[in-house]
Amino acid sequence: MYRTDIGVIGLAVMGRSIALNMADHGFKVGGYNRSRQVTERLIEEHPHENLVPFYELKELVASQERPRKFLIMVKAGKPVDLVIDQLSPLLDAGDMILDGGNSFFEDTRRREQQLREKGIYYFGTGISGGEKGARFGPSIMPGGDEAAYAHIAPILETIAAKAKGEPCCAYMGPDGAGHYVKMVHNGIEYADMQLIAEAYLLLKYAGGFSNEELADMFARWNQGKLKSYLIGITADIFREEDDFQDGQLIDYILDSAGQKGTGRWTSLESLKQGVNVSLITAACNARIMSNRIEKRKLAKELIPEPKGISAPEKAVMKELVEQGLYTAKITAYAQGFELLAHASKEYGWNLRYGRIAAIFRAGCIIQAEFLEDITKAFEKNPELDNLMLDSFFLDGIRKGQESLREALCIGIKNGIPLPAMSQAAAYIDAFRGVPAGANLIQAQRDCFGAHTYERIDRDGIFHHDWGQDHE
Ligand code: 6PG
Repeated sequence: MYRTDIGVIGLAVMGRSIALNMADHGFKVGGYNRSRQVTERLIEEHPHENLVPFYELKELVASQERPRKFLIMVKAGKPVDLVIDQLSPLLDAGDMILDGGNSFFEDTRRREQQLREKGIYYFGTGISGGEKGARFGPSIMPGGDEAAYAHIAPILETIAAKAKGEPCCAYMGPDGAGHYVKMVHNGIEYADMQLIAEAYLLLKYAGGFSNEELADMFARWNQGKLKSYLIGITADIFREEDDFQDGQLIDYILDSAGQKGTGRWTSLESLKQGVNVSLITAACNARIMSNRIEKRKLAKELIPEPKGISAPEKAVMKELVEQGLYTAKITAYAQGFELLAHASKEYGWNLRYGRIAAIFRAGCIIQAEFLEDITKAFEKNPELDNLMLDSFFLDGIRKGQESLREALCIGIKNGIPLPAMSQAAAYIDAFRGVPAGANLIQAQRDCFGAHTYERIDRDGIFHHDWGQDHE
């Protein structure tokens, strides 16, 4: 009879990669997939002494000592419920199920509660880093019962990426906390990617930079304060030759991007919480607009291009975009972390933001040099209201906002869509408390609906008889 330490259910790309990662680290892994061929193919292509195939769930269950541990790696949604329905009747109290997909956190909360009633521990476990991360070290965000976490910590923290020797995996909080943090991670990922895409548009269409120049520039940026996984892969992308024609692949890729939903969830959730994550929403909308391929072609004929202005010389343009991108990036992370702070209070999770930033330092898609500074900011002040109020990031905003604004002017004058960068500037202005125009909004609401208004010179709620008849 085989003895295993953990079962991985679902052996598609992510499941198989994480199973092999565990096996490499000396854990005995039982692999199971609904369709037998997937398991057989995995064993054929990647035979591993620590990876044992199973074709019956009950045999997989029988291969472990209690408390048993299972990591579900199937598509988010119904498939997760189906696996739980098949697996849970075979389990005993104290056993543990981890969901490693991008499940919606409300589903995770529901499942956690249902399984808790049966004595089974359920961990919504965010896993970031794509296929390579899963295989060689992802960033892992587990949420569930804190005491039970001790049983899975040795496996998860061993297979996770390491940043300065520390595992990029830590207990996040109860019930849906892990999946919530992963959702916000993805929201920030959307914003980060959109900002980079806007920097690309500015440099290419206003600045006239070639792919080669862009590749060199991004590679250099990746040595400085913008250093991050996304900047690094972007530098490589600009260099990649096309498979079919002369030139770089980037110029042959359709200008339309899909989304699977985590960014949209972040945006919807922010509206529910009353937190402004406008850069994430802008990134979702940018993808939506990009999908209107035919309509965009048509409208291009109808709406003339603006007259445009010439961009400054390349060295200046490069500097403006770098500083502008960095400044906007600060606002995107500030918004994401503010949403986490709000959710933590709302759901009673006691999220530790410094710890979250620390596990984002390696393994995940948004890993970046300045996550180190985010960790430091929350270490200095665990209750920090907004990252932009930390002295390090405040300094970044002070130094970079002029460049951001200038880059925006060049883009807007030349008809280059910069929705996320524009939101960054708008957010900074709203944040720093310049007149918001809300006095007029109050007046309008009171005028048309007697919604009352507040004053600057005295306390209380007022209604004015506007005395106008508006037909
Ligand atoms: C990660 C990623 C990953 C996500 C992809 C695609 O952290 O490894 O966030 O979980 O699925 O980035 O997401 P979209 O298809 O929504 O862009």
